[in-house]
Amino acid sequence: MKTILVFVSTLDGKVTKWGDPHVQSWSSLKDQDYFNKIWNSARLFIMGSNTFNADPIKPASNHLLVIMTREPSKYINYETLGQLEFRNDSPIELTLQFANQGYEYMFLVGGAHIATSFLKEQLVDELWLTIEPKIFGVGGNFVIEEKLDINLQLLSCESVNKQGTLLTKYSVIKK
Ligand SMILES: NC(=O)c1ccc[n+]([C@@H]2O[C@H](COP(=O)([O-])OP(=O)(O)OC[C@H]3O[C@@H](n4cnc5c(N)ncnc54)[C@H](OP(=O)(O)O)[C@@H]3O)[C@@H](O)[C@H]2O)c1
Repeated sequence: MKTILVFVSTLDGKVTKWGDPHVQSWSSLKDQDYFNKIWNSARLFIMGSNTFNADPIKPASNHLLVIMTREPSKYINYETLGQLEFRNDSPIELTLQFANQGYEYMFLVGGAHIATSFLKEQLVDELWLTIEPKIFGVGGNFVIEEKLDINLQLLSCESVNKQGTLLTKYSVIKK
């Protein structure tokens, strides 16, 4: 199974603008189309509870979305088994479980805490990063403040609009 981390970021590495958790207020239409294509075609997504709480998503029958939380019981009213599940499992447990179930891809769709917890365990295979030509100065990064030392290799880079939004794909070089 390939584990893919997906983010949209500014040139100064921000994945949120100032204190606003709503990414679509500043990401380009091209990035939103790109994300929607991934969302509509892939079968398995993992998300952190803060990202879910910022914009609670409804269950969809075409894929499974797993929300990582240490308190799954808080979300019992949102749960739809097989579509929207709340789990207190570690990154390794989730990876092994879904690899064993035969999933080909697992998409990690934020936020920074979840991204960091998978990166730290060397469980990420690719980073699909949209780079918007913007600078916010204040906002969250796509990893939290932790000592990391991860090398990546550029796989592809495509400019998709007049302003120069870049859709990039990197593979993580495993140690
Ligand atoms: N620009 C982008 O592409 C993009 C993408 C996604 C999100 N975002 C933004 O990122 C922000 C949220 O990011 P975030 O870093 O604050 O939160 P997050 O990564 O979405 O969620 C973190 C929370 O997940 C739970 N959790 C469960 N297991 C965990 C584990 N093993 N490691 C870490 N956390 C675990 C914890 O909450 P509990 O246990 O308390 O439930 C933790 O506080 C939002 O503003 C969102 O809009 C941006």
